[in-house]
Amino acid sequence: MSQQTRTPIIAGNWKMNGSAGMAQTLTEAVAQGITSLDAEVVLIPPYPYLSLVGGAMSPSESHFKLGAQDLSVHDQGAHTGEVSGAMLVDLGCHYVLVGHSERRADHHESNEVVAAKFMAAQRAGLIPIVCLGETLAEREAGQTDEVVLGQLDAVIRAAGIESFERAVIAYEPVWAIGTGQTATPDQAQSVHASIRARIRDNSDTIGGQVRVIYGGSVKPDNAQEILSCEDIDGGLIGGASLEASSFLGICQAAR
Ligand code: PGA
Repeated sequence: MSQQTRTPIIAGNWKMNGSAGMAQTLTEAVAQGITSLDAEVVLIPPYPYLSLVGGAMSPSESHFKLGAQDLSVHDQGAHTGEVSGAMLVDLGCHYVLVGHSERRADHHESNEVVAAKFMAAQRAGLIPIVCLGETLAEREAGQTDEVVLGQLDAVIRAAGIESFERAVIAYEPVWAIGTGQTATPDQAQSVHASIRARIRDNSDTIGGQVRVIYGGSVKPDNAQEILSCEDIDGGLIGGASLEASSFLGICQAAR
């Protein structure tokens, strides 16, 4: 399947940033700027602002969607501090990140936990955006594909290849996140092609359809060359999603 038939997706991961006022202003500015865009645009604020951001999106363009940064592996019960997939659906979420490298590092989330969260998201009716990526040491040791495909295989094993009909994959090299050092288009395209080939090995159809997005210091001035790569279907944007003008600049590049 050609890239044109996979609708690009630009997702803004605010991480633990912002305030109610900022969430309102930023969402309104993005909403105004994305009309008639040929891409899906997802805002991923911290949990406490999900309702506010969802409200400020409406009357929503159908390609403007809400996402959350994480969810519990559990569906309900005695798990203080956790948030279930069903609760995120109640708040209007369509998407949820699973396995962001900051969760893997700060909260010791293993590939198995990430796979369990991926399945919890789908049980609730959410589309998981599963994040994969190698550290600088792993890249320098020539282990990039091994690490990234190992992370992917854990999800395929647990959830089955059909589950990727309702999922997005994000490749985010850990060394490029928040560092200002982005992967070159060649480096990114090469890993994206490996990811797609792995899905194709399991199902040619799903491999052609699944959207694989890139994250790691994407800015308006480098977005075009990254997003035009054959196997790159959009971006997961951190720092540059906190300002309407830079986020919208990246959205424009995804046309
Ligand atoms: P960055 O973050 O754009 O600030 O590098 C990307 C991410 O962590 O999703």
